Amino acid sequence: QVSHKQEMMKMHEIATHHFRQNLQKSDIVRKYVQERQIAPETLERFGIGFSSDSWQALADIFKRSGFDLDIAAECGLLMKSKNGRYYDRFRNRLMFPIRDVNGRTIAFGGRVIPALDDGESAKYLNTNGTPIYKKSQQLFGLDVARRSVTAQKNIMITEGYMDVLTLYQFGYTNAVACLGTSFPEEQVKRITELSKNVELLFDGDNPGREAAFKACGKLLVKGISCKVVLFPPEDDIDSLLKGKGKELFENLRENRTEGLSFCIQTLKKRSPKDAIEWSREFLGQIEMPELFQPMASKLALGLGIDEAELRLGVVEQKKTQNTRMNFQ
Ligand code: GTP
Ligand code: MN
Ligand code: MN
Ligand code: MN
Ligand code: MN
Repeated sequence: QVSHKQEMMKMHEIATHHFRQNLQKSDIVRKYVQERQIAPETLERFGIGFSSDSWQALADIFKRSGFDLDIAAECGLLMKSKNGRYYDRFRNRLMFPIRDVNGRTIAFGGRVIPALDDGESAKYLNTNGTPIYKKSQQLFGLDVARRSVTAQKNIMITEGYMDVLTLYQFGYTNAVACLGTSFPEEQVKRITELSKNVELLFDGDNPGREAAFKACGKLLVKGISCKVVLFPPEDDIDSLLKGKGKELFENLRENRTEGLSFCIQTLKKRSPKDAIEWSREFLGQIEMPELFQPMASKLALGLGIDEAELRLGVVEQKKTQNTRMNFQ
């Protein structure tokens, strides 16, 4: 199995190189990249490429190099048709390599290029889980961001690939994307290992806010201090920085909302029953005993509920850990 994994990594390396060469050859794609204001240095740093409209380009390369095409299909680069022919899975897309922390490509995200699409395709096509890519554990951009995260003791979390690229271009080199909005437990664990200070930069639309709410809950119970930066409903950090500028972003950042306060704001829009249910569940999951009391008080005060009533039936966790956080 080890050698199969190595073969998969090698094929991803070859694919990354191939896609990058394609990008240089296509005027349409270079134009799209310019429109999205992705600088050449950013393309280079993140290894962005393009999958052409060929059904066979990668398949041919792998075949010529003697790779096992079944393995190429198993790691999501090729597909196998019913009559046993192999063809390229990604076509006509801007390709974002998803890399492990050491910078090796293990998967791809491919974005539709409007000028090359009939409007029918999903905006993003991503590699599904494979033997070398456990989706729920990876954060896009971590290989680039890791040093800054360690140095600044702070990590920015976004929804998408483009968000990370744009932050990078504006000098924020400590950003990663959680790729979608579900924020699984393994990603949370990964983040707790990297930094105890998280800034959530999710899209300003309702799904983005809902995702931020869920992420806050998951981080706060682990003793991670998290802050939410709120964008206008029509923006994500990519469109905001490019369309409205860094100064506005810095203003919004100054007014960012502490995670638990953001949760309270969100809960106030729900029924009191739902708010209490969520709060009890949340309190029961807090892993640092020293945080239980202050968080219970803050929630009760914020929601206008009697604290003793809020705590009814909640079993405090008694793990001992030395975590301090500022959640005022
Ligand atoms: P742009 O439109 O290029 O700015 O992309 P975005 O990053 O703003 O996309 P969006 O906010 O819609 O989605 C955030 C992330 O969710 C993306 O980066 C993808 O990882 C994922 N995503 C979005 N759309 C799709 C889709 O159609 N299919 C899949 N599988 N994932 C998607
Ligand atoms: Mn083999
Ligand atoms: Mn979104
Ligand atoms: Mn977005
Ligand atoms: Mn966007």
